[in-house]
Amino acid sequence: MTIRIVTICGSVRPGNYTRMALNVATEKLNEAPGVVVEDIRLEDLDLPLPGLPAKNPEAIARFQKTVSEATGVLLASPEYHGGISSPMKLAIDNLGFPSNLAGKPIAILGVAAGVIGAIKSSEQLRAICAHVGAVPLPLAVSVPNIQRTFNEQGQCQDPKTEELIGRSATTLLDYINNAVCPKISLEALLREQEA
Ligand SMILES: Cc1cc2nc3c(=O)[nH]c(=O)nc-3n(C[C@H](O)[C@H](O)[C@H](O)COP(=O)(O)O)c2cc1C
Repeated sequence: MTIRIVTICGSVRPGNYTRMALNVATEKLNEAPGVVVEDIRLEDLDLPLPGLPAKNPEAIARFQKTVSEATGVLLASPEYHGGISSPMKLAIDNLGFPSNLAGKPIAILGVAAGVIGAIKSSEQLRAICAHVGAVPLPLAVSVPNIQRTFNEQGQCQDPKTEELIGRSATTLLDYINNAVCPKISLEALLREQEA
């Protein structure tokens, strides 16, 4: 069975550090057998503010469909002013009501320049995900001092942080493999028996 993971980077700043951290998590996802990663590039989507018409409705529909078909989602957000980034919130606001995130397991990866890390934004993201009916997973990975942890080429300078970021990927896959897939197989088995 193919496991489809959608990743969304909540920073659209050229050269942003959230993307660098997300790249580490994506590498980990790509190492796992049977996993297909679909990365959403918010900078290319031109998402409308809530209530305004979309300039490119087809792109928004594609975005929603991609998320609706995902087995799980990895959300990576920078901490901006003690909360999630506005691009990340706009992405979630454009995922429909009821949300296409509903029922999806969500791994949260938070990135901050400050020493405290992305605690506030990660908690906020967890609350928003739960509010729209998604299943935010218990381990949220928060990376502090991000601008000292990665160099400008996007290479992580600290093996422990690299391992921590990787756990955002493995937590998601472990949940899918251990909690979601057995349920899917059991359902398939029962349906086969009934047929
Ligand atoms: C509008 C804005 C607000 C920010 N607020 C915070 C903050 O509250 N706490 C913090 O640690 N870093 C803050 N930062 C710094 C970001 O965490 C930093 O830019 C980091 O590299 C992650 O963002 P990036 O992925 O856009 O690079 C802020 C940056 C911006 C652009």
